[in-house]
Amino acid sequence: MDLSFLKQSEVKAFIKANEQTDVQKLLLNPPTEFKNHIGLIADQILSRRKAKSKLPEWYANHDLIMPPPLSLEQCSSPATGTYKSNIFSGETLVDLTGGMGIDTLYLSDQFKEVHHVERNHQIHEVFVHNLQALQKTNVQAHHTNAEDFLGQFDQKAYFFIDPARRSESKSRVFLFEDCSPNVIELLPLFHQKAEKVLIKAAPMIDVSLAISQLENVSEVHVVSVRNEVKEVLFLLDYQNQTDNEPMIKCINLDTDQSEFCFLTSEEKSIKSEYSEMKNYLFDPNASILKAGAFKLTGNRYQLNKIAVNTHFYTSEQFRENFPGRVFEIIEKDINKKNISKSVPNGKVNVLTKNYPQKPDEIKKKLKVKDGGELYLIGFKDHVNKPQFVLAKRV
Ligand SMILES: C[S@@+](CC[C@H](N)C(=O)[O-])C[C@H]1O[C@@H](n2cnc3c(N)ncnc32)[C@H](O)[C@@H]1O
Repeated sequence: MDLSFLKQSEVKAFIKANEQTDVQKLLLNPPTEFKNHIGLIADQILSRRKAKSKLPEWYANHDLIMPPPLSLEQCSSPATGTYKSNIFSGETLVDLTGGMGIDTLYLSDQFKEVHHVERNHQIHEVFVHNLQALQKTNVQAHHTNAEDFLGQFDQKAYFFIDPARRSESKSRVFLFEDCSPNVIELLPLFHQKAEKVLIKAAPMIDVSLAISQLENVSEVHVVSVRNEVKEVLFLLDYQNQTDNEPMIKCINLDTDQSEFCFLTSEEKSIKSEYSEMKNYLFDPNASILKAGAFKLTGNRYQLNKIAVNTHFYTSEQFRENFPGRVFEIIEKDINKKNISKSVPNGKVNVLTKNYPQKPDEIKKKLKVKDGGELYLIGFKDHVNKPQFVLAKRV
């Protein structure tokens, strides 16, 4: 990547002025003076578009150069970066898959000495430039692969790793073996050199399988931002090795919901109490559902569950501090044929769980539109019968 070209003020101005331009048209019909570097310019425009909502501070800083668009898709957000920086701290940190460096930079505030390792030359070069622009003095960038760096590293350290998926077509499957580097193959080296290791995995990872493949897992963090699971973090503790099972922590950032922590053995040891829908419906946040605390959610908040596979909970009374959404039931057993009686203006938000049809199909069939305060909530009850209730958020 010709960084000196991207640093020129007229190039920066052109990129800024063409923020909204159709990139395909620009590639086909580039201005003569930028003809030889139009691919680089197009990438900067595309990456800046992604940065605008994901990394507003980077977008606003014109001294920074953006890495290719894929790096922006893969990097952490400020919310999850900050969250990780509170998980571990120490003397020396090695980020084995540095990428755009968002995680490196957030974590660097917690360590004296930091190493950013990246095997892609272009991404490495961009990071070196941005490091200078951001005046970060405790971070060193290394252009090499994680396996070699770790093999040659001869001191004890904390390691962070956020592996890249090898094939984007496998986006629905997530296994450590399908990623680069393969974390499982690095475990013997971690055993020799790590004080702690923090592994970032994609939301679709199978948490129990991952725990069984890794070693010394002391904590699992299932991190959502506004009810969407963004990442699953595994903390391996080589300083205090025990046979204790890991604490699973479910967190929903950018909300006022408190953390929900549990052990898998706790979840396995209890039974749910089931009932029909009562006055209030409780919908746990996405992190809790991802972590599989299906029985404990009801147990901790003294709620009845609706059905084994319907992860809605209910009670006669409201519960303060429930980590999820709470709805007050207005009408039960809604008759679909007579929906206009319950929803007179035709506006209702549709929400389903373990229901045969998706919200969009239901909206089309019932001829209702999103909006308003009311929610039409579909689910299968304890005798497996699909039903609807009408509710509003508390
Ligand atoms: C998911 S991204 C990391 C994003 C980073 N955490 C951030 O916040 O910007 C993974 C990065 O690891 C790099 N990578 C993949 N395999 C690697 C390897 N074996 N050694 C070093 N880097 C590798 C990729 O080029 C990519 O930039």
